[in-house]
This record gives sequence, C-alpha cells and structure tokens, in this order.
Amino acid sequence: MEKMKIFIVEDEPIEALDLKHILGRLGYSVTGAAMSGEECIRQIPSDPPDLIIMDIRLRGDMDGIDAAAELRKKYDIPIIFATAFSDKTSLTRAKLTEPYGYIIKPYDERNLYTTIEMSLDKYRIDRRLKESEIKYRNLSSHLQSLREAERTQIAREIHDELGQSLTALKMDISWIKNRLPSGQNDLFEKMGAMSSLVDTIIDTVRRISSELRPGILDDLGLHAAIEWCADEFQKRNRIPCRVSCNTDDLDIDEMKSITIYRIFQESLTNIIRHAHATEVAVSLVREGDALILTVQDNGRGISEEEINDPSSLGIIGIRERALSCGGTAFISGVTGRGTTVKTVIPLEGSEQ
Ligand SMILES: Nc1ncnc2c1ncn2[C@@H]1O[C@H](COP(=O)(O)OP(=O)(O)OP(=O)(O)O)[C@@H](O)[C@H]1O
Ligand SMILES: [Mg+2]
Repeated sequence: MEKMKIFIVEDEPIEALDLKHILGRLGYSVTGAAMSGEECIRQIPSDPPDLIIMDIRLRGDMDGIDAAAELRKKYDIPIIFATAFSDKTSLTRAKLTEPYGYIIKPYDERNLYTTIEMSLDKYRIDRRLKESEIKYRNLSSHLQSLREAERTQIAREIHDELGQSLTALKMDISWIKNRLPSGQNDLFEKMGAMSSLVDTIIDTVRRISSELRPGILDDLGLHAAIEWCADEFQKRNRIPCRVSCNTDDLDIDEMKSITIYRIFQESLTNIIRHAHATEVAVSLVREGDALILTVQDNGRGISEEEINDPSSLGIIGIRERALSCGGTAFISGVTGRGTTVKTVIPLEGSEQ
C-alpha cells in the first residue's frame, strides 16, 4: 500500500525533525515541511499531501489557525492541530476551521498514530458522505426538471387538444339547439344543460392546465404570475395576500422563474394547511444581482424542530429547489407571530 503523505508545519526546527522521525517510524512519508503558515500555503499546491500537521503557535503574521482557515477555502485536506497547551480562546478559534484532530505536544508516538489514523478514517467517511450528498442532490434536481417538463407538456396537451375539442363540441351543441323544430322544449332545455356542462368542463380543463403549468408565467413573466397566484389565494381563502415588487424588468431564465414560482406555491400551501394566519405579505425584489422572494405570514410560527425535521419534505423541497439554481432558502418562525420563507436566487453566475 502506498504511504500516506504528511506535511508538517512547525517553526521549531528540532521539534520538526523529531516529528519527521516519528512519522517515518510509523510508516508515513513526510513530503513537505514549512516553518510558517505563509510558507505552507505557498508549498501545498505543488504536491498536495493526504494530511497536514499544523502547529497552532507559529512565528509570523499568521498562526496555525489562520493558515488552516486559508487552506480550507481552497483545498480539501484534513488538518490536525498540534499544540503545547490549549487555552480556551484558541481552541474556540481552532474549532471553526473544523480540524480532524488535536495532538498535545511533546509528540507521543502512539498518540500521534491513533490521531492520524482516526483523522484519515474520518476524512474518508466525510468524503463518501459528501459524494453521496452530491449524487442525491443531482438526482433530485434532475427529477425536478423532468417533472416540470412533463407537467408543461401535459398542461399544453390538455389545454390545446381537450380545450379545442370542447370548444368545437360547444359550437355543435348550439348549432343543433338553433335548428330544433319549435315545440321541442324538452330537447331545447336538454341542449342548454349540455352546453353549460361543457362550459364547466372547459373551466375545469383550464384550471387543471394552469395548475400544472401556469401559462401566465410563460406569457407575462414571474411578477404577473406571483400576483395572479396571490390573488387566487386571497379569493379562495379570504386571507389578504399583499404583493410588493420593486422591479418589472426581470431578465430571468425559465428555470429560475419556475423555481421561485413553485417555492411560492409551496409556501402558500403551507400557510393554508398549518399557519392559521390572517395576513400574508409577499415581496419580490431585486437586490444587486440577486432576486429575493419573501413570503411572510402572521400565523402560529414554524418551530426549529419542524424546520429541521428530516420528514419535512415540503421544506426540504423548497431548500433543494433554491440550491438547484445556486441560491438559498431561509426558513424561520417566531412562535405566535408567524413564519418567513426567504429565497435568494442569483440572477447571473453559475448554476449548480
Ligand atoms: N407557514 C407555516 N406556519 C406554521 N407551521 C408551518 C408552516 N409551514 C410549515 N409548517 C410546519 O412545518 C411542517 C413541515 O412542513 P412541510 O411543508 O415540510 O410538510 P407538510 O406541509 O406537513 O407536508 P408536505 O410534504 O405535503 O408539504 C408542517 O407540518 C408544519 O407543522
Ligand atoms: Mg408543505
């Protein structure tokens, strides 16, 4: 098996040498060493190691914790901190860089070995977890877009095919109705009833089709679609739903507008089902390069447990939809005062 490559950051040459010997005896290969944080950051790219042992106290402008924080931004390499004594403040700072372990100096061979092996194992597990998270995220986003495409197609077919046939049927009914011989009152009434029934079916077809894919979104854009949806919500539930928007000049692609629209729909459904609210405020604003949708109700307020519950699939769906456009959804609640769902989507830039 290939030897694990370890990089040492230690500003005491004797201690560095001592550590190097111990590591060699333990079967690791020390592929690099630096006396300062800056030097370590310069050297890492040329031959990235499997693990870094970083002294917390280093001479120079950067201590080990600063160096670890910098490295973490660019590389995915596990770091173990080495320290002679551990004061609370540096430990708190160190924790923020999510190190894989701590070693107390002077170096003890067995202790070193256990810490390194456990860190490498934990790192492998983390990697697998991250990879599977990426896989599931990609799958979820793929399924989501397939579902949208399918809904759009079904909506179009229902609207065009069924809608047109029903309109033709309605015309035929009135054609017959107009040609009925006089005195045929029963037939005349029957034809009238048929015609109203066809009207009702046409309305239902329109409703189903627009629930599947709101045509207004494609024809008039996101702002109009949000206004329309809020209006329908208000009419159906008798809960005032105000929409404010600071821009009509939204140059937003189809995927992002359907994402925001679906998040809005899910937020409204949750309000009807759970909030017991008497008012809803919606804002759609552009701030710099981001589009922000905020849906705020004055209901009972979602709890932290409900937000983080792995079975809260609606909430997870909101988050995943936002992430699939490179954005973020923030969900918060205050007991007795209401719930806020805020979605921030970048208008430009990379998509995941
Ligand atoms: N606006 C809200 N006000 C108060 N509680 C809420 C609100 N939205 C969600 N919740 C709470 O959070 C829980 C999780 O919401 P989520 O949308 O994930 O699931 P759900 O609505 O119960 O089911 P579904 O999977 O059909 O959406 C809800 O069951 C409810 O208890
Ligand atoms: Mg829900």
